[in-house]
Amino acid sequence: MIEKNLVDPMDLTKEELDSLMELAEKIIKSPREYADICKGKIMANLFFEPSTRTRLSFESAMLRLGGQVIGFSDLSSSSVIKGESFSDTIRTVSLYSDLLVIRHFKEGAPKYATEHSDVPIINAGDGSHQHPTQTLADIFIIKKAHGEIKDLTIGFCGDLKFGRTVHSLTKTLLKYPNIKFIFISPPELRMPKYIKRLLNEKNAEYIEVESLQELIDKLDILYMTRVQKERFFNEADYVRLKDSYILTTEHLKVAKENLAILHPLPRVNEIDVEVDKDPRAMYFRQARFGMYMRMALIMQILEASDVKY
Ligand code: CP
Repeated sequence: MIEKNLVDPMDLTKEELDSLMELAEKIIKSPREYADICKGKIMANLFFEPSTRTRLSFESAMLRLGGQVIGFSDLSSSSVIKGESFSDTIRTVSLYSDLLVIRHFKEGAPKYATEHSDVPIINAGDGSHQHPTQTLADIFIIKKAHGEIKDLTIGFCGDLKFGRTVHSLTKTLLKYPNIKFIFISPPELRMPKYIKRLLNEKNAEYIEVESLQELIDKLDILYMTRVQKERFFNEADYVRLKDSYILTTEHLKVAKENLAILHPLPRVNEIDVEVDKDPRAMYFRQARFGMYMRMALIMQILEASDVKY
């Protein structure tokens, strides 16, 4: 049984992750069986930061389950702009809904929200910290691409410092056997120390390199990321680092035939659009599978929360 909230990827055990993937498979096979399962339930999408995929895939997921969706997509259309506190906003919206999905620019905001809500909270991305539901999309596409999540070498490339998706996915992959990590980034955008500490505690194998080309032939998965403009302290650093890596069809000439090229999206410049034609490019399928995993998650969390009126 899934706990009431999902704020950190470590809130889910390996068994729960596997069970979500099984449920997502069932939904894909027989969507009509699930079309009314959340009838009468309301999900609130509270997005204090921009989003296309996460917000709309959650919305689509709930609608496909027969539920309804309320919420806002930016700060300026909420009463926070009039000075209302975050905690009062959460407390109020939790009176109108059965589940809150929160994206916030401040690390820890969804965790803080759990203290002010009687209904479950799902973290839809908090600052440069975590993005656990993107991880659900990521592990599902990895399983689809490689059959099992084990004995794999994954290269994370780009902004590993501010990229919340790579933090969450790395933590989650530590639950699976024999995953090797190659962290490809400029020195300024390396994986945070707390993630490397976790890797060391689990005796996970990892190396940090600067070159994308050097080890691309060793990879089973290449996870590209955008340089996170919105997290930089000054524009000049962003401009200097933004095009550190641009994956092209040239890079892929020596890559494995069963390489899975992933990206949480949005893409800016880091994958040349020509790469989209390569069958190894799976980032749009990854976005689609994310919606099925969110359907599975909504079902399981609502079942676990047993909201009383
Ligand atoms: N992957 C992801 O979180 O995309 P959005 O910012 O568009 O939601």
